[in-house]
Order: sequence, then structure tokens, then C-alpha cells
Amino acid sequence: MSKHRTAVMGLGVRGKTHLKALLENAEHYEIVGICDIRPEVMDAVEEMFSLSVPKFTDVEEMLSQTRPEVFVFVTYPDLRLSMIELAVKYGVKAVSFEKPMAENMEEAKKMTDLCIANGIKAVVCHQQKYLKQMQELKAKVDRGDLGKIKKIFAECQPWMAQLGTHYMDYIIWVNQGARAKSVIGHVHGPATMQDDHPSPDFLFGEILFENGTRGYLECGYFAEQHNPDMYRDSDNRLTVWGEEGYAYAETDGYWGECSRNTGSRLVKGKKPGWYHFQEKEIQTPYYTEYAEWLDDDKKVHSCNIETALHGYEILEAIVLSALDNRRVDLPLTDFSYEPVMERMKKELPWFEGCDKAPRDLYKGDWDRPERDDEDDE
Ligand SMILES: NC(=O)c1ccc[n+]([C@@H]2O[C@H](COP(=O)([O-])OP(=O)(O)OC[C@H]3O[C@@H](n4cnc5c(N)ncnc54)[C@H](O)[C@@H]3O)[C@@H](O)[C@H]2O)c1
Repeated sequence: MSKHRTAVMGLGVRGKTHLKALLENAEHYEIVGICDIRPEVMDAVEEMFSLSVPKFTDVEEMLSQTRPEVFVFVTYPDLRLSMIELAVKYGVKAVSFEKPMAENMEEAKKMTDLCIANGIKAVVCHQQKYLKQMQELKAKVDRGDLGKIKKIFAECQPWMAQLGTHYMDYIIWVNQGARAKSVIGHVHGPATMQDDHPSPDFLFGEILFENGTRGYLECGYFAEQHNPDMYRDSDNRLTVWGEEGYAYAETDGYWGECSRNTGSRLVKGKKPGWYHFQEKEIQTPYYTEYAEWLDDDKKVHSCNIETALHGYEILEAIVLSALDNRRVDLPLTDFSYEPVMERMKKELPWFEGCDKAPRDLYKGDWDRPERDDEDDE
């Protein structure tokens, strides 16, 4: 197979991780251009990766001059739809970008429709499913170790647009891609609406899937903190309950299983967590799997845009349910309602103790773990 001509825009924190993973898949990708509005960042990246490629501060110029097959853009959600419109204009065949996939539901749907209509293979970076403990959890479910799956429960310390959007995607993934039929939801707390990832301070949703499984998602300050000695924003747990046992996996590396495999006792362990593991072991296989899809239409990537859109739609429905005090049935088809973000800004009441910046809600202990998240096993 020939290498895929790839252009990368946005070389901040995550952009460097994406670029590194592409370079580690050198047999699949050829970097034909990089772009950032900050030239000094591109210089630093060239030095960091011993790279010598055309550099651009204007993305359209990069696309028109390099005509890439793959366009990777690693920016904030305000630059997603316009990037896909540019991808269509310049005949790009594949796009890869970050979560959350859009600023609102209508935009997310438009982006997905544009990709489908133009044959663009699109992936949204919900990459924590490559963590070893996540892969093992999925394997336990797929082998039937837990019996028939009844409930899937995701608990995240960070808020909806940070980790909620990731774990919603992981609920669908572990539930074999099943579609949701109906949801109910609760949201409260306006402080986090001021964050660069606006969200309610806390969200809880229950989801009934077409295959009969129930999903439960909670994200924000009220979710249980499982491991107080770890990074708070890695304290996210996905638990799968079957008729013959349960098992869980966390972003920070912890896992547990209680099933016939463990003599019906809860056995726990620890693998490397996200901070320790986020590049080579997660992002690199993410781009290997992407190349497999680019080379073979049948090998659809597990982070494909249609699944990501469904996760986004379920979150939207949870918020709608909370704001309207009603059950919401899917799919959502009419987006003429007032955007839920605007409504949350206006309607979520302040309460004592929520008048602080989002991270202060969590008592300021986000960035100082007593231990890092290396492998204990
Ligand atoms: N998947 C994950 O695990 C994960 C983790 C952290 C962040 N994220 C997401 O990644 C996204 C990016 O976050 P980040 O921390 O890398 O941000 P960042 O601010 O570090 O990087 C963004 C980069 O884009 C550049 N940029 C902005 N506008 C541009 C333009 N018009 N043209 C060219 N370059 C432009 C900026 O100069 C900057 O270098 C966010 O949506 C965030 O939610 C994902």
C-alpha cells in the first residue's frame, strides 16, 4: 500500500501527540505539511521530531498547496465544521480530529452528513479504548465471561464535554455499537458553563438501548472519586454488569473483576494509566487502525464519526430531558429547538458553593497526585 499523504493542523498539547503517532506509523503516513497560527510552535515541533516539511500559518493555503489525502486538525470545537467544509473543498479523503466533536448537535450532524456524502472517512479521538485495561474489559464482555450484559455504568470526575463525551462513546463501544432508544437525564450547576469545555457541573443520564441493555453515565463533581491518591481527571470508571458477574476499567489504570473467572470474588489490579501511556501505546495503534480502514473499507475504525455522533446525540438528549423534565426518544430529528448550551447558561440555578471556577469545585486537587499512574502489575 502507498503511504497516505497527511497534513496536520494545530500543534498544541494534543496536536503533538497526534503528529508523534503518525510519525510512529511511518510505513502508513507521509507528512506533507504542518500548520499552526503560532510559527514558533511549528519550529519547536520540527526540532522535536527532526522533521523538515512545509509549514503554514494558514490552513487553506496548506490544503490547496499540499492536496493531502488525510487531514488531521487538532484544535478546539469552534474549528471543526469549517475544517470539514475545507476538507470537502480540497477533495480530502479522510479527516481525524479531537473531541468533543462539535459545539452543538446541529453542527455535529452537519459534519457527519458532509463526511458521508463526500466519502470522507472520519474519526473522532475517543482513544482511551486502546488502554490495556479497556481492551481487556471489552474482551471479557465479548467472550461472555460476564454472561448476558444487563447494565453499563460510566462514572467520570471531569465534566460532560471533557470526559463525559469520551465515556459515552465507550458505553456504546462495549455495548457492541447498539443504538439508544430513549433517555432520561438530570443536570445541575452553572459554574462549569464558563469553562473552555462548557458543561453543567454535574450530569446524570439513564439510557435504554435497542438491545435491552441499560447505560448509566454520570460526570462532574458529584461522581464518586474512586482513587483519591491519583490524578482526579483520570478517575473515570467503566463498569459492565452481566448476569454472571461484573468488571470495570479506569482511565488511571485500575481494573476489577468479579465473575466465574475469579471464583466470584472481586479481584483488582492496576495497569499503566492514561498519563503514563497516552502516546505510544494508545495514539500509535489508533493511527495504525485508521490506516487499516483507509486501505480497506470493511475495517471501519472503532472511533468512526457515525458512532461518535450517536454518543453526542445521546448526551444532547440527556440534557434535553433534564431541561424539559421529560423522557427523550431517539433519534433526534428536529433541531429547531433553542440550543441546550444557551438554555443551560440561562436556566441552571446557582447554589451555594458553585460560584467558583470549575476546577475549584473539586477542591483544587487535580494536578497534584501523591503517586503517578505507572504500572503496578
Ligand atoms: N482525546 C483526548 O484525550 C484529549 C485530551 C486533551 C484535550 N483534548 C481535546 O483536544 C483539543 C485540543 O486541545 P489542546 O489541549 O491540544 O489545545 P491547544 O490549545 O494546546 O492546541 C491547539 C493548537 O491549535 C492552534 N490553532 C488554533 N487556531 C488555529 C488556526 N486557525 N489555524 C492553525 N492552528 C490553530 C493553536 O495555536 C494551538 O497550537 C480540544 O478539543 C480538547 O478537548 C483531547
